[in-house]
Amino acid sequence: MIDLEDIQGLVFSGHGHMPWSRFIFLRVSNAVPARTWLQQVIPEIVSSKARSRSEAKPEATAHIAFTAEGLAAIGLNASTLDAFPREFTEGMSSGQRPRVLGDVNANDPQKWEFGGPNTEPIHILLALYAQSQNRMTEYEQASWYPSSSTGFSLVYSQNSHRQSVNEPFGFRDGISQPAVIDGPIPLPTDPNALPPLTPGEFVLGYNNEYANMSPAPAVPAASDRNTILPPDADDATARSFGRNGTFLVYRKLKQDYDAFWGWCEEATRKQDGSVDPDAKEMLAAKLVGRYKSGCPLTLSPKADNPALGASDNNNSFKFADKDLEGYACPIGSHIRRANPRDVLHPNGPERSVAISNRHRIMRRGRPYSETLESGTKEVGLLFIAINADLQRQFEFIQQTWLVNPKFNGLFNDEDPLVSNADGPGTMTIQREPVRQKLHGLPQFVTMRGGAYFFLPGLRALKYLANLAG
Ligand code: HEM
Repeated sequence: MIDLEDIQGLVFSGHGHMPWSRFIFLRVSNAVPARTWLQQVIPEIVSSKARSRSEAKPEATAHIAFTAEGLAAIGLNASTLDAFPREFTEGMSSGQRPRVLGDVNANDPQKWEFGGPNTEPIHILLALYAQSQNRMTEYEQASWYPSSSTGFSLVYSQNSHRQSVNEPFGFRDGISQPAVIDGPIPLPTDPNALPPLTPGEFVLGYNNEYANMSPAPAVPAASDRNTILPPDADDATARSFGRNGTFLVYRKLKQDYDAFWGWCEEATRKQDGSVDPDAKEMLAAKLVGRYKSGCPLTLSPKADNPALGASDNNNSFKFADKDLEGYACPIGSHIRRANPRDVLHPNGPERSVAISNRHRIMRRGRPYSETLESGTKEVGLLFIAINADLQRQFEFIQQTWLVNPKFNGLFNDEDPLVSNADGPGTMTIQREPVRQKLHGLPQFVTMRGGAYFFLPGLRALKYLANLAG
């Protein structure tokens, strides 16, 4: 069974009933008071057990995650840190990562607001969620609310108030999430739903889709003075620091609403120059793979079915039997790239699902909306993903599926929603008798900053808070 009580609640819940959230990025200036601070905040963290149906829904929660630099700054020993994967220790903005992730030109880390090479290093992400604005204000007044006297400097802060189920382009979001065996959420019963995944895809120290245990870095048993951590699976002289932890991807993605809808309008303008609202909506849906209601094009190819979009069956579909050629949901649409389900040619449906299942993520994104100093309003998505293997899951999706122009037999198209940082793109819409090729897709989404974090289990957090020296 999964040790839900030790896993931070964000892994198994997006906290949908808590619309207010704040993401506070901190730099540790003094490890000793920072550890005392950690001790005070840990009781605020709701575990994944809270997601079980029998548990009352929390009014508020905190979550804490560390960058590799942050783990070092709080005092984790260097050899344990070395056991973490390279993409995490290198960080999102250094080495090969920007090239892997398509963070070039307008997305270049040099231009980021935070998390880039020109901005203050990030050590800790403190994510706060609350049911009401008042509850968030109570958090602000709490004794542990970060200040320089608690051993930190504030690097960056981001508010989010989620007012609907839609992301800023207007599409219902947060629909397709992986089901997890032995998790707190009942598994789907619909035979058309995707199969549930092993817990090791989302939590370290459990079996994953390769029937291997997802590797969890260990610490010398002697450093765990109060025997807080679980035993290491292989080594009696070590305790497991990584077990029940996972990796969190944070990317602030600015969305250009006017460019997105303006382009859809121009691309579908009638010959007499008038706007065709239905064609415009349909084209936007083709780029996403779902209508704004959330209804999948594969299940309703000709027109939106809002009731289906809002229903529990809005994710019960695969592509191979109904939509192999992409006549309903284009091969290059966002959702078909982000999860090709059973159509990863030439392997056949079953094999394709098995492959797709090795590249899934839990999405925990939140919208943001803010007025810049210039007076302009900016909207976007605080993209947050949870996965046990940054490279095999988040980075693979981004690199091999979203920004790859040759994805699944396509010739020169990138993801129509989140790509095209390297110049205007194309989008192919499969249809009979001939496919339609649209040109001049601008960049609709721009990267503003982000980082890779480790989201430790609660016992691992207590271990860090208790470190000596
Ligand atoms: C601002 C940027 C983005 C927007 C507006 C956006 C929007 C959407 C929408 C509307 C959906 C369909 C609803 C749903 O299933 O929840 C979706 C699904 C999805 N998106 Fe994104 N997305 C963005 C960025 C990303 C990025 C960067 C990734 C991964 C690297 C990603 C991965 C996914 C995945 C895995 C799904 C579910 C696919 C499925 O299982 O059917 N998205 N997105």
